[in-house]
Amino acid sequence: MKNRVVSAPRGSPLDLGGVAVWPGWFDAGAQAALVDDIRTVARSAPFFRPVTPRGQPMSVRMTSAGRYGWVSDRRGYRYAPRHPSGADWPPIPQAVLALWHEVTGLDRAPDCCLVNFYGEGARMGLHQDRDEADFSWPVVSVSLGDDGLFRVGGQTRGGRTQSLWLKSGDVAVLGGAARLAFHGVDRIRFRSSPLLPEGGRINLTLRMVD
Ligand code: SIN
Ligand code: MN
Repeated sequence: MKNRVVSAPRGSPLDLGGVAVWPGWFDAGAQAALVDDIRTVARSAPFFRPVTPRGQPMSVRMTSAGRYGWVSDRRGYRYAPRHPSGADWPPIPQAVLALWHEVTGLDRAPDCCLVNFYGEGARMGLHQDRDEADFSWPVVSVSLGDDGLFRVGGQTRGGRTQSLWLKSGDVAVLGGAARLAFHGVDRIRFRSSPLLPEGGRINLTLRMVD
């Protein structure tokens, strides 16, 4: 009988205030392939620097793939069917879709893969992901490149928070009671990972929009 290669079952995730974190989900080869996929996305949907509704430029640069992309400008935070250039968002890379189905067990594919790029000094303040229509769908996050100090709180601002350094290849799921948890990235350790030759951190978040 031929040998059948069975993929190793994933270990149980860490629990960071209800957020499930799988350290090292993607190995170095898979991380490099994901970076190539993101470069392809960025060729048709270049990174841009959003401004907050108050007109403050964000330190993170962004782009998206999928049916919708997340944008922010003077008109507010929202999902948009096209890149600010007017072009359609490119498709979500296959490996990213495969992760979504594996980690969530859901048949429906995500509507949006938001791509955040953190250069030296970039951060993201505590916020909830609440521009989506239905919070019963989870949000799945993938970290690539430099370490990022990820902070998670409860569903109200100002409560207790917990932090963890997310490393390249780690996957996190905000689902169930943690779907509306406040979260953010306090800082990155610039050039802590060799994955991106120029340094920096990429975070992908997969969301169901409508
Ligand atoms: C986000 O909340 O959109 C990004 C989180 C992260 O960069 O880990
Ligand atoms: Mn978020």
